[in-house]
Amino acid sequence: LILSVPRDSAALSVGAEEVADAIAAEAGRRGVALDMMRTGSRGMFWLEPLVEVVRDGVRHAFGPVTAADVPGLFDAGFGDAHPLALGPTEVIPYLAEQERLTFVRCGITDPLSVADYRAHGGFAGLEKALALEPAAICDEVKDSGLRGRGGAGFPTGIKWRTVLEAPGDLKFICCNADEGDSGTFADRMIMEGDPFLLIEGMTIAALAVGAAEGFVYIRSEYPHAVATMREAIRLAEAEGWLGADMHGSGRSFHLEVRVGAGAYICGEETSMLESLEGRRGEVRPKPPLPALEGLFGKPTVVNNVLSLCAVPVILERGAAFYRDFGVGHSRGTQPFQLAGNIKRGGLVEKAFGISLHDLVYRFGGGTASGRPVKAVQAGGPLGAYLPESLFHLPKDYEAFAAEEAMVGHGGLVVFDDTADMAAQARFAMEFCAIESCGKCTPCRIGSTRGVEVIDRIRAGTDVDGNMALLDDLCTLMADGSLCAMGGLTPMPVRSALKHFPEDFHRPRQAAP
Ligand code: NAI
Repeated sequence: LILSVPRDSAALSVGAEEVADAIAAEAGRRGVALDMMRTGSRGMFWLEPLVEVVRDGVRHAFGPVTAADVPGLFDAGFGDAHPLALGPTEVIPYLAEQERLTFVRCGITDPLSVADYRAHGGFAGLEKALALEPAAICDEVKDSGLRGRGGAGFPTGIKWRTVLEAPGDLKFICCNADEGDSGTFADRMIMEGDPFLLIEGMTIAALAVGAAEGFVYIRSEYPHAVATMREAIRLAEAEGWLGADMHGSGRSFHLEVRVGAGAYICGEETSMLESLEGRRGEVRPKPPLPALEGLFGKPTVVNNVLSLCAVPVILERGAAFYRDFGVGHSRGTQPFQLAGNIKRGGLVEKAFGISLHDLVYRFGGGTASGRPVKAVQAGGPLGAYLPESLFHLPKDYEAFAAEEAMVGHGGLVVFDDTADMAAQARFAMEFCAIESCGKCTPCRIGSTRGVEVIDRIRAGTDVDGNMALLDDLCTLMADGSLCAMGGLTPMPVRSALKHFPEDFHRPRQAAP
């Protein structure tokens, strides 16, 4: 019996470990020879724990499986007649309709087997990069159209070129794995499910800019990702893919994991650098850009996990292959994450250009509560709340910006018609008040005043006067804050006001 059970923390949280134990025990009782692999998750969270059984070389899915289901599954010979049988995994529409370039191995391979990674095309991009000049690697990434997947969408190849051309022998690669946005989990999934991909992407970045040292800054809330990354680094070093004189190339790259201490602001790149240097995570003014004066004042590439994980396939298959996916200036694919009140939550990697409607309904199946969708918050806690009338919007950095919204890190949190958008606007201000690093006044004080003003509006106190005050405050925070924390907090507030005025005791304006 050949099967796999995920060890991704989303699967573990709903009992994957108990299911794996029950399968091992049942196989032992029945004298069945068992070959059980622990994998990452396929990203269909409503089906977790998802057990996959190999029959005639094809993986067949069963889920969601509990430990109590296991004897029955054995009785049925893991056949199609069992009520939990979902058929061949790859044919499940949620998976079949995706365009997986980054998540191509996640849920399929053993995350901690270099041999399995190699067998599924791993390190092919790095092999190509080892034969290229640094500038040629930067150009390939630039030509692919890859933009920063952390949310800001800055062209990755241009950032690398800046670091390459910055004077100095000591340069660093820092991977931002402080995935703090609500409704996001793609960084965690890939670190737990395909850690060598991140190692490969970071090593290519190091070759591109001439860095010999790198850090993966992982949030403390991700203990499984921390453990998996540390073990993967050890294994990659043991096999010569990392460390001194990689595969006889004469090039060296050392990688270390650093664990955050639970502050949302450390996802902001300069705070992350402060934290990596051993200080309290407070924002540094920009300029200087980290690309020129970053970690310990040295030229530093700071990229999100997903940006770095997009790089190996670009090197392996070429810039044109990657650029062929997407629309406008948003090229390639984005791993979108469906969360909140949604029937089929999980990870959907698609080319840019897919509509919100398709993500929420075709993939997500609407709300988990069965009630109508009221709003979707796109791009984390500081992203806009979008009403159904905007669900035609294609996932595209510019199209979202034109509607005062952002794609961000690709997270979507769905709300049904029981949600109170004035309460959500208050939450944005409260979140900022709690998470502000305190370095600049608009963010530190503005957010607290914001909570108070929204409370007065919700209580019906001088609504007109307080509305004008809230508008002023939002403008001040957006224009005057030192970083995106205070700068973006007005986005959810303003979107709630604009699209859901009734929740603030305001009449809806006629469409212009
Ligand atoms: P930014 O626009 O200031 O910078 C984007 C990146 O480009 C930075 O790494 C910056 O150093 C770099 N850069 C800018 N100009 C450059 C140049 N000329 N040469 C080389 N590099 C250059 O945006 P920021 O403040 O880094 O990020 C804000 C974004 O973060 C938001 O749009 C939001 O979507 C996202 N975000 C993501 C979260 C997550 O959990 N992933 C959480 C909160 C916000």
